[in-house]
Amino acid sequence: MQSKSESGLHVAIIMDGNGRWATRRGLPRVAGHRAGVAAVRRIVEHAPELSVFVLTLHAFSSDNWARPAQEVQSIFWIIRAFLRLECDRLRQQGVHLEVIGRRDRIPAPLLREIERTESATANGHGLKLRIAIDYSSRTAIADAAVAATNDPNLNRPLTSEHMRTILAHALKSNCGDVDLLIRTGGEQRLSDFLLWESAYAELAFTDRMWPDFAESDLASALSDFNHRERRFGGIPAASVQPISILSRRTR
Ligand code: FPP
Repeated sequence: MQSKSESGLHVAIIMDGNGRWATRRGLPRVAGHRAGVAAVRRIVEHAPELSVFVLTLHAFSSDNWARPAQEVQSIFWIIRAFLRLECDRLRQQGVHLEVIGRRDRIPAPLLREIERTESATANGHGLKLRIAIDYSSRTAIADAAVAATNDPNLNRPLTSEHMRTILAHALKSNCGDVDLLIRTGGEQRLSDFLLWESAYAELAFTDRMWPDFAESDLASALSDFNHRERRFGGIPAASVQPISILSRRTR
């Protein structure tokens, strides 16, 4: 059962397994990241026809700074090249690109390319493509809470309910909650990705390494998703008993 059938689904993907994909082929890890770009292209192209309206891809987590500097530089270089080469195609496809995460540590040439692509695709009415770079969900939540606390225009004291509304608005940036979160590469964890937005996400873990992830894998994950019953804490509609039955039983 899809929750946002009118507008489409929000699918988030933790693109894991690039390094192992390359190592198994006797290639340097960076070859896996390069091969991962082709998978990004495939999924971006086919997502809309599978009713995906928002696609959030985890490209570089704030914890990925712990990797060797050369690998970090290569990932940034690869993302920059992707944006430069794909910008026109993204625009033609009606994609609206937005990068989420910290921007103050992103190297200037990549940041320029991000800003250029964001502005070139700003009028896209098709797929909303969000790429997470230097992203930490805990940091995003903490930053939004600090901003709310320091906002002189908000009524004091801030209640928990009010803070929930503020955070939900700040974090989802009109994209809605995540409906389906997919992680490739065989690990089964969330790795500080979209923790707030995935409160009721369905989770799908696959052993497929990201460079091998094809549109058929996305279609299969969505088909499985469509058979899941999403209750959001409620009970299945078929289990709701008429009040008359309930009162008879408790008599
Ligand atoms: C995780 O695999 C992958 C990354 C940290 C980088 C993801 C980047 C890309 C797919 C490049 C293209 C991205 C865009 C948006 C164009 P890993 O290196 O942790 O794999 P491992 O677990 O096998 O070591």
